[in-house]
Amino acid sequence: MRILLTGSDGYIGARMGPYLLSAGYDVRGVDAGYYRAGWLYNDAERRPETVTRDIRDLQLEDFQGIDAVVHLAELSNDPLGAHDRENTYDINFKGTVRLALLAKKAGVKRFVYASSCSVYGRGNGGGAPLDETAPVDPLTAYAECKVLSERSLLDLADSDFTVTFLRNATAFGASPRMRFDIVLNNLAGLAWTRREIAMTSDGSPWRPLVHVLDICKAFALTLKADADRVQGQVFNVGANHQNYRVRDIANIVAAEFRGCALSFGEPGQDNRSYRVAFDRIRQHLDGFECDHSAEYGAAELRAVFEHIGLTGEQFNAAAFTRLSALKQLQQSGQIDERFYFRDIARPLQLRRTAAA
Ligand SMILES: NC(=O)c1ccc[n+]([C@@H]2O[C@H](COP(=O)([O-])OP(=O)(O)OC[C@H]3O[C@@H](n4cnc5c(N)ncnc54)[C@H](O)[C@@H]3O)[C@@H](O)[C@H]2O)c1
Repeated sequence: MRILLTGSDGYIGARMGPYLLSAGYDVRGVDAGYYRAGWLYNDAERRPETVTRDIRDLQLEDFQGIDAVVHLAELSNDPLGAHDRENTYDINFKGTVRLALLAKKAGVKRFVYASSCSVYGRGNGGGAPLDETAPVDPLTAYAECKVLSERSLLDLADSDFTVTFLRNATAFGASPRMRFDIVLNNLAGLAWTRREIAMTSDGSPWRPLVHVLDICKAFALTLKADADRVQGQVFNVGANHQNYRVRDIANIVAAEFRGCALSFGEPGQDNRSYRVAFDRIRQHLDGFECDHSAEYGAAELRAVFEHIGLTGEQFNAAAFTRLSALKQLQQSGQIDERFYFRDIARPLQLRRTAAA
């Protein structure tokens, strides 16, 4: 099966490509390359060939011979959506729907979409875990686009085009294309570089977490499943026991990074606190189980930081924090007002901070 993997140069994509290749898929990557200046470590895995293109520019012929699309390429978190709502809608909603329309027209059979548990919004303050039938309540442009895209893509699903929505919990874990703007990775970076996690809030909100490799597994099992098991299905991706309070995540990280001081502040203003039910994915996708706990992720990150000697400069580098990276590309004029690269032939000028 030949797969077009969008966002293959992102945090999840940099692990998804090798994962799908080693599962026996023929993988082609496409990525605009917004974060290509940041490469935290080298791993020896085989990587798919990736073309530098904006998904908004893809044409019918780019889908020739493709059997399935794994769609990750978006402006992918709440702060980015808040920074630029217009481009978030243009890429994440319009770009996604156009991509799926082209894929369908070209005869692609499957489309697996990286949605997010952020569609549940404010959640229920940690009450009963929310399953896939819970009403959506998007609070940000990023989450609104996920909801709008899910609805539009569902309209395209038919017997020739199988569409599946994977609502991922917040990811954690090592990736060469590292992100320090997600909770566990951020806390681990603080613990390593400062030996201190000083939380301004009491860390009481709930957050479901999932390791990046368990996300890869969910996509691979979706691609492998019989079409009628996954057609039009929404799956929360994570595990019931991986609903954590933020303070539990901080405790897990501090325990792994010995000598790390941990302190908490007053109850915070964070209005997002939610627990999510992850039963459906286990019932529908044979073999789905999360294999990697938060403890595993903290230990994995410590091993990577030790191996490369992560510095404070690397931890704070724009290339590993999406909002800072995009702001730098805008301020330096490398991308235009619609987030298109002005000259993709020119090497990126983001200050290179990679260890490798
Ligand atoms: N990381 C998480 O915690 C998480 C949680 C839930 C859902 N998701 C979803 O999973 C997907 C991947 O997330 P990630 O963490 O790897 O994000 P990321 O930002 O690290 O990677 C996204 C990649 O897409 C590329 N991209 C963005 N816009 C593009 C465009 N117009 N054309 C071509 N390429 C473009 C970027 O260059 C980047 O390499 C996203 O759709 C995200 O919303 C992520």
